[in-house]
Amino acid sequence: MKKIRLLLVGYGPRGKIWAKAIKKNSKTELVGICDINKDLEHKNPKNIIFFHKIDSALSYLRPDAVILSTPPFNRMQDLKVCAKFKLPILVEKPLTINLEEAKRQISFMNRHKLLLFVGLNFRYLPTTLEKIKLLNSGKVGKPNFAKFVYERWRDGKLARLNKYPLHMKHPMLWEQSIHHFDLIRFIYNSNVKKVFATTSNPPWSMYKHDTNVNAILELQNGIIVNYIGNWQSNCKSLNFEWRTDCSKGIIVQKKQFDDLNYRTTNQLKLKKIQLKKFTMWLDDASALLSDFINSTNNNKNFIKLNKDHLNSLSIVDACIKSSKTGKKISIKNY
Ligand SMILES: NC(=O)c1ccc[n+]([C@@H]2O[C@H](COP(=O)([O-])OP(=O)(O)OC[C@H]3O[C@@H](n4cnc5c(N)ncnc54)[C@H](O)[C@@H]3O)[C@@H](O)[C@H]2O)c1
Repeated sequence: MKKIRLLLVGYGPRGKIWAKAIKKNSKTELVGICDINKDLEHKNPKNIIFFHKIDSALSYLRPDAVILSTPPFNRMQDLKVCAKFKLPILVEKPLTINLEEAKRQISFMNRHKLLLFVGLNFRYLPTTLEKIKLLNSGKVGKPNFAKFVYERWRDGKLARLNKYPLHMKHPMLWEQSIHHFDLIRFIYNSNVKKVFATTSNPPWSMYKHDTNVNAILELQNGIIVNYIGNWQSNCKSLNFEWRTDCSKGIIVQKKQFDDLNYRTTNQLKLKKIQLKKFTMWLDDASALLSDFINSTNNNKNFIKLNKDHLNSLSIVDACIKSSKTGKKISIKNY
């Protein structure tokens, strides 16, 4: 089978993972890398041609699709160039840091009948897939309420991490909670109806803007989620707990990518779910890539796929509005 020829745009820490994932995936081939930072040219993989400008890269290489692994600012300019070449795009999360701009970008891609697939790799984790399987099995019954806790001390100055979150507004919400909110929608198979939230920044924070999020999410299917997420907890180990209380028991996930358990109402102990062996960041990106490639072949579905991310970005937007006004915010679904 002919491999899908990909141009990778943005060769930061995340772009480097994409280069490995493309290599690992039997359906894809990396044909070029484009980054505005010329210093990265000598760091790119051998035999891969390097460009500084996306239009030159596209004219020269004529790839089948593009991965945009750039920061979430000003992405419209790159979408426009890709549209000239009629290319589907796999873009990193968050699509934008502004809901209205996200709508404009999605309308643009819809008008051009092009796929804009947002890279939500956490959807492909074994914990995610097994949790969905467990819920569908009926063993623990119907989910009713949940607690999602993610307390992390994220050293934003580490060399291997991007630096722009140190200065942007609401870095936790746009960069991290977006993954969590998307997972909540994905696993409970429901959009969010209403949000009440506060955001704050502790006095010791190295970030310019709020790293703490406390939110209550009311889902359309009636589930209530109590969310605590932060990037500047004052302890260097990550505390993760996601518990779901259901009509016939509970599901408890104790680690971010592992330790998934359940217990029915009358059982005395938690039962651990066996998860398949998994290389974090690589296997999830590779699975996401396969899903993107399969979606490029299904032309009919692109509008639904393009719009989906708006329903997760809307939760971030509602948290910001709620924190600002002190009010519960209703969310429009797309
Ligand atoms: N899905 C995940 O788990 C995950 C993990 C990390 C980062 N990300 C996301 O990936 C994206 C990139 O993150 P990062 O950590 O690599 O950021 P980064 O800022 O460290 O690196 C981005 C790279 O893109 C380049 N760049 C910027 N604008 C460009 C443009 N218009 N054309 C070409 N190159 C350009 C920069 O020079 C830099 O090398 C962000 O949206 C981030 O949220 C996702």
